[in-house]
Amino acid sequence: MTETIVIVGSLNADLVVRTERFPKPGETLHGSDLQTLPGGKSANQAVAAGRLGGAVRMVGAVGDDGNGTLLRDSVAAAGADVTHVAVREGVATGTAVITVDAAGENTIVISGGANATLAPTDVPADAFDGAAVLGLCLEVSIDVVLAAARAARAAGVTVLTNLSPFGAVPDELLELTDVLLVNEHEAAALGDHGVTRSVVTRGGAGCTVHDGDADPVSIDAVRVEPVDTTGCGDAFMGAVALRLAAGDPLVDAARFAVGVGAYAATGVGAQASYPTTAELERFLRA
Ligand code: RIB
Repeated sequence: MTETIVIVGSLNADLVVRTERFPKPGETLHGSDLQTLPGGKSANQAVAAGRLGGAVRMVGAVGDDGNGTLLRDSVAAAGADVTHVAVREGVATGTAVITVDAAGENTIVISGGANATLAPTDVPADAFDGAAVLGLCLEVSIDVVLAAARAARAAGVTVLTNLSPFGAVPDELLELTDVLLVNEHEAAALGDHGVTRSVVTRGGAGCTVHDGDADPVSIDAVRVEPVDTTGCGDAFMGAVALRLAAGDPLVDAARFAVGVGAYAATGVGAQASYPTTAELERFLRA
């Protein structure tokens, strides 16, 4: 597998507390010890694809603090190139405050930190050399997302866009997107988007693939007892990027990604729960 996956976007330190149930507004609950784990939707995607053997290049920014080192080291340990992960002096690394309940569901609030400093000029001209797929999400500024999408399109690179965290996006982003990845709620809110290739995820119920004029294909979930669903969608996206870069049809990429997303639900944290190829094969055989 030689084609490179470029991921442009966020890196966050995930500050995670487990709790029996989520607090109501105004309520205080006791939780577990605090864990600080590597996360951020884009970094998670990069790690997922990298651990599964993909050639990955990450573009982003962290602060010059311990969390920044944690993030760069985690992405690099997955085999991804972090040359273009800038270290900003005097800026805090992005963080995500996460609660996980007894059912493995989560709530997440992010604080941009260094992610908010990422600018279109941080996406280097040679970022797409040898690349097949660009992965994008919405945790960095829309200017950066658009600049990367435009450059990728000009270089003939497939643009895979995850509209998360969900919000209004310019039509241009949808026009530049080759493959859209959204969950069922985002798909409903988005309405008619005009992107002819998309994957709509349905949490623990699998996903539906729309690929041009072909009939939509529904793919069943791999059933697991979830421990922590944080980052499962990012693992799914990294896996789709990996298989698209390898030349798979979208439906095959999504089928593979369903297994990767399910695996990610069986462990604590985001990146910490992602499989290598050998781990994934053992899991799917069991
Ligand atoms: O999708 C999960 C991710 O969302 C977490 O790792 C957190 O950092 C937020 O970006």
